[in-house]
Amino acid sequence: MRIEPFLDALGAKAIYDTLEVGAPAILRPTQNAAHGDYQLNGVLGLAKKLKANPRELAEKVAAQLGGHEAIASAEVAGPGFINLRLDDGWIAGRLARSLRDRERDGVPAVVSPETIVVDFSSPNIAKQMHVGHLRSTIIGAAIVRLLRFAGHTVIGDNHLGDWGTQFGLLIVGMRAWGDEAALEASPIVELERVYKLASAKAKEDEAFAESARAELAKLQAGDAENRRLWARFVEVSRSALDAIYDRLGVTFDEWLGESAYDDRLPGVVQQLLEAGIAREDQGAICVFFNELEGVEGKLAKQEVPFIVQKGDGAYLYSTSDIATVQYRRERWNADRAIYVVDKRQAGHFRQLFEVARLLGETMKLEHVGFGTVMGADGKPIKTRDGTALTLASLLDEAEERAERKMVDELGLDPAMARELRAPIGIGAVKYADLVQNRTSDYTFDWDKLIAFAGNAGPYLQNAHARCCSIFAKAELDPASLDGAEIALEHPDELRLARRLLKLSDVVHAAAESSNPHYVAEHLYSLANEFSAFYTNCPVLKSDEPVRSSRLALTDLTRRQLARGLGLLGIEAPERI
Ligand code: ARG
Repeated sequence: MRIEPFLDALGAKAIYDTLEVGAPAILRPTQNAAHGDYQLNGVLGLAKKLKANPRELAEKVAAQLGGHEAIASAEVAGPGFINLRLDDGWIAGRLARSLRDRERDGVPAVVSPETIVVDFSSPNIAKQMHVGHLRSTIIGAAIVRLLRFAGHTVIGDNHLGDWGTQFGLLIVGMRAWGDEAALEASPIVELERVYKLASAKAKEDEAFAESARAELAKLQAGDAENRRLWARFVEVSRSALDAIYDRLGVTFDEWLGESAYDDRLPGVVQQLLEAGIAREDQGAICVFFNELEGVEGKLAKQEVPFIVQKGDGAYLYSTSDIATVQYRRERWNADRAIYVVDKRQAGHFRQLFEVARLLGETMKLEHVGFGTVMGADGKPIKTRDGTALTLASLLDEAEERAERKMVDELGLDPAMARELRAPIGIGAVKYADLVQNRTSDYTFDWDKLIAFAGNAGPYLQNAHARCCSIFAKAELDPASLDGAEIALEHPDELRLARRLLKLSDVVHAAAESSNPHYVAEHLYSLANEFSAFYTNCPVLKSDEPVRSSRLALTDLTRRQLARGLGLLGIEAPERI
């Protein structure tokens, strides 16, 4: 059950019952546990409106709340806040119910599920997938899982950059410098190499640039030979990408790249012209937001146009993005589309969403942006030789370091460390990304990331394995606890129980706001509180009924760690 909406409603009801007005209760978790668990702030604003004494009103509301079985105490504080402390017995009862709910660990599904498209990963073919795409892939996959677990219908779509000017350059470039064997062996490296050569030559050699444009035009007009070449570039790139996604355990429901929308592009431009949203400017077709009625905010003054067709007739990233919005509405009748893309593209999405709105689109469109990954030198991360770090080499290094640390620091048997290198190493990379507030830039630091202490993936995986080992030691199947009673006495039990109670709120808040780091923070606090509990509250050595109650808390912790890590796309091995 979700605690916060429940208490919020309880507070609003108490306000209504005692003061006979409908007003929001405005619930917040307290900062300081000494003040209770939650605080209601709504009476303050209400008193101002009613020109009444806030403390007097708050006393009445608090008295009513104090009578509810979930509330141990409701006390008026400060100018008229109400501090709520939850009843320990009530908490224990809630947790006992979650214990039996192996399907969902007590997390309810939303009442009104939506159909949501999550556009994520979306690398460009002919360029190495780099660390920036790693963020989109990891964050996007976590958002897909969170929304799905929250009860929505989710379509994860890899909007591959598989169309556009680079293919003209690639076609002429492959003819001039292409190496068939290299293309077969490591396609993306080869395509990127050739692409760089071709784009450099096009800058200084007008005839070369012209031939690239001609090949592009032929490709777009459906020329069979160029289509065949293009299809081959896409195919070899896809298989290289698949290998990375496999290692990351990421899957998509659709791979609808930019090329999938090619035949819709003329229609999009036509529609924009007919609706008077776009006009011609120096041969190009553009949307000038500062010239349009009904555009508000920043865009109303924006002079930089949204170009949908260039003077030479070529369509752009923006054109296929408009077509994509329309397709997602027609194909899935989607309520929402979420774009998990580097925050440096915020300007593009602001313009895109406004054009969609001007076209009458009512689907909710959200850009879920993220910051840049920095190296130790404070610049975007690079490899030692200065080239942009490739994803594959980063994952290799993570696995190597994880394996070494497991042997050196945990004293793990080398064979076991070898077996665990992928889940621990890759889990660490994912966690380091997901624990950040996604909009901030963060510094990539191997020592902090692969760590069995502190806020790192391996620490949480280790905490989970520790919970599992308690059951292994007792030779006990956790399912046998399903009927157990939970009784909370020790301060560390109480703290742990209060944390466990928050799972539903955390998961839904993370899903609603596309903030997987809420889940990461919850897991880190949970692991710390479990560790204090385990140090101070003997589990297996206690007598019944304390033993079963403590085992139940251990099992709830184990399941929340596994569930939470799973939502983040991180494996939770039973033994480390
Ligand atoms: N391919 C783009 C890039 O690498 C990202 C695409 C994001 N999705 C979209 N619908 N625009 O920058």
